[in-house]
Amino acid sequence: MKKIVIAGNWKMNMTRKETKEFMVRISSFTMDRNDIDVILFPPYTSIDSAQSFKPEWIKIGSQNLWYKDSGAFTGEISPIFLKELGVEYVLIGHSERRHILNEQDEILNLKVKSALQHDIIPIFCVGERKEENEKNIGKQVIKRQIEEGLKFINQEVILAYEPVWAIGTGRAATPDIAEEMHSYITQLTLEKPFTVKAILYGGSVNPDNISDLIAMPHIDGVLIGGASLSSDKFLKMLDIVKKRR
Ligand code: PGA
Repeated sequence: MKKIVIAGNWKMNMTRKETKEFMVRISSFTMDRNDIDVILFPPYTSIDSAQSFKPEWIKIGSQNLWYKDSGAFTGEISPIFLKELGVEYVLIGHSERRHILNEQDEILNLKVKSALQHDIIPIFCVGERKEENEKNIGKQVIKRQIEEGLKFINQEVILAYEPVWAIGTGRAATPDIAEEMHSYITQLTLEKPFTVKAILYGGSVNPDNISDLIAMPHIDGVLIGGASLSSDKFLKMLDIVKKRR
């Protein structure tokens, strides 16, 4: 049976107090399966609160990092600081960083290298925008994002396919559409020097669609935004994944 990753990206939400409340609430859940990895990505300032109150089966990731260890980079966060907080994963190339913060392939590549150097597992996000999807060039966009962003990488990474048109819209990709892209990404990465540990789907995942998505052969898990902010919804999704098969 394949291992499933359930990742929750909290974006710029969840104060330290809300983080504590969330963690206390979900601590009553029993995760007795070691074929399910659960990772939460709080904002930087709530990471230590998450670490203090989380149940043991949850791992903590960072939503971003800077690619240098220290220096004159006002406002940025070093991978060393994140390691100090027990961070094990990092999101790199999320569409909001690509399109709102204008991060380009080259800098994303430096961030992936830096994460790996510090033993932080990168979850490298790719996905086409609405207009690219309409022009039917989604696969070309993803190919470029992967080839440029993961250039010269020869370690293990997790990928997340997040079509930009599905993020925060309530309109997830259908399981068939997501599966086609995941299968394409699997083929594309087969001969690359890096190893793909899992390919997650992201974009409006919720308790109603999670089951059909993870049932697809090339979907190894999900990256959940909005629906991971509610402990009720998050627990519901954990329960669905735990009870399947
Ligand atoms: P969403 O966000 O689930 O709210 O669509 C997903 C993401 O941006 O990772």
